[in-house]
Amino acid sequence: MCLLRGSTSRITDLPRAPGRLPLLGHAWPMMRNPLRFAGSLSGRGDLVEVRLGPVRACVPCHPDLLWQVLTDDRTFDKGGPFFDRVRGTIGNGVGSCPYHEHRRQRRLIQPSFHPERLERYATVMEQESVTLTGEWEHGQVVDVYGALYGTALRTVLRSLFATRLDADAAAGFRESVETVLNQLTARMFLPQPLQRLPLPVNRRFDRAVAGLRHGIENLVAEYRSGGTDRGDLLSALISARDQTTHSGTTHNEPEAPGGGSLDDTEIHDQVLTMLAAGSDSVAAAVSWALYLLDRAPEALARLHREVDTVLGGGPATGASVRELPYTGRVVTEALRLYPPGWLFTRVTTERSELGGYQLPSGTTVAFCAPAVHRRAGLYDRPDAFDPDRWLPERARNLPKGAFAAFGGGARKCAGEAFGLTESTLLLAAIVGRWRLRRAPGSDVRPVALSTALRPRRLLMEISARDARTAEKGQA
Ligand code: HEM
Repeated sequence: MCLLRGSTSRITDLPRAPGRLPLLGHAWPMMRNPLRFAGSLSGRGDLVEVRLGPVRACVPCHPDLLWQVLTDDRTFDKGGPFFDRVRGTIGNGVGSCPYHEHRRQRRLIQPSFHPERLERYATVMEQESVTLTGEWEHGQVVDVYGALYGTALRTVLRSLFATRLDADAAAGFRESVETVLNQLTARMFLPQPLQRLPLPVNRRFDRAVAGLRHGIENLVAEYRSGGTDRGDLLSALISARDQTTHSGTTHNEPEAPGGGSLDDTEIHDQVLTMLAAGSDSVAAAVSWALYLLDRAPEALARLHREVDTVLGGGPATGASVRELPYTGRVVTEALRLYPPGWLFTRVTTERSELGGYQLPSGTTVAFCAPAVHRRAGLYDRPDAFDPDRWLPERARNLPKGAFAAFGGGARKCAGEAFGLTESTLLLAAIVGRWRLRRAPGSDVRPVALSTALRPRRLLMEISARDARTAEKGQA
């Protein structure tokens, strides 16, 4: 692997990605096939220039450079076109706030993801997976991402708000979250004045953002007046002050000033962050895993053996996830090949050096995991689906930035354990009961510029694995 060091070239000397258009920059090749575009970048260099609309961005394609960007979050702070737009939409929560606010926010939300709480969320995951797999019928063709998205959003909603939302409120949340997520990344490429025009698409977006805010405001007010810990994420966020005083911090950072609790606006922003971060990511991860397994009969057979042995026909639970190592490796490998969070930005807060290039303060750097995940020479046969590459003895020698599906450093995904548990549990529940085969009419190219990298239309035919259900379906 080549890595330019020692020299200090100017940013204008960076190798450039091909296919740039005036105003739109690289929006066109990124829209047509984001994975192919991102995967091609490492062939140009370790740090490559890409235009996000009118903005020049440097993309680290080498694991060491990506790791430097992710772990030095003071210099490579959240900002640039992606996070500027996110802040304008879902606010200044832990995922989008700048460095100087982050440590305090992270300490306050961290108890919400404590392993004890995760056990309760796993009960919701189990119930939702039973509902999903119980709804399907032998011979039915399912739009896999759509079905999983409904399940993942309901899971995060019920983990946030233990008191079940009524069906209308849940449907309202779903529609609004979908509208926002569908447009967030695309808005990065559109000039701001266009986004303010009174077009139906903009009005729909603004209405969705306002609807989400209103719905969350009502729930927070209801929780505050109730005053009890309902064991859910929202209760944890509301009572964050007491917990942080006793539980300390997860990072080796000095105490940041600014108080030990979240005010109402901050709670809205955290809840919006969780809804945005925790729904389409999981749905995309499991969809890609099912797609990959359909093309890999040996891997599927091994998965069936593991799931049948551990679950024995029963439901997948939070506890069973620990006994499903191969299922976990399938999820990790799907996340390597198709990382749902595929494009985020940072902005340099001071003059800095990256891979031998001098970056002036204010330079946009793009965190694009597929540019590293599919880099030739880093992984053996990087485009192949090989879950066993995650066996400890094989993964041991990978450099730190080689796998960045959950980011890294202090800003690493707060919901990593939540997302991995849910994805593994869902996958086990599905393959334990059903066999899924890709059906005609699918289009598995990733959706153009959606926030999560997900298939456009993954249609799969469902058939029962046990003979009795199959007979019932055929009768
Ligand atoms: C397979 C599922 C998931 C994937 C692949 C994923 C991926 C990511 C990535 C890449 C980041 C870092 C973004 C950056 O550095 O700019 C992130 C941050 C975050 N994620 Fe996830 N995520 C997943 C599930 C979840 C879930 C289920 C939740 C919550 C319920 C969640 C909550 C968060 C939060 C709060 C942050 C911000 C952390 C911080 O800045 O301190 N994620 N996620």
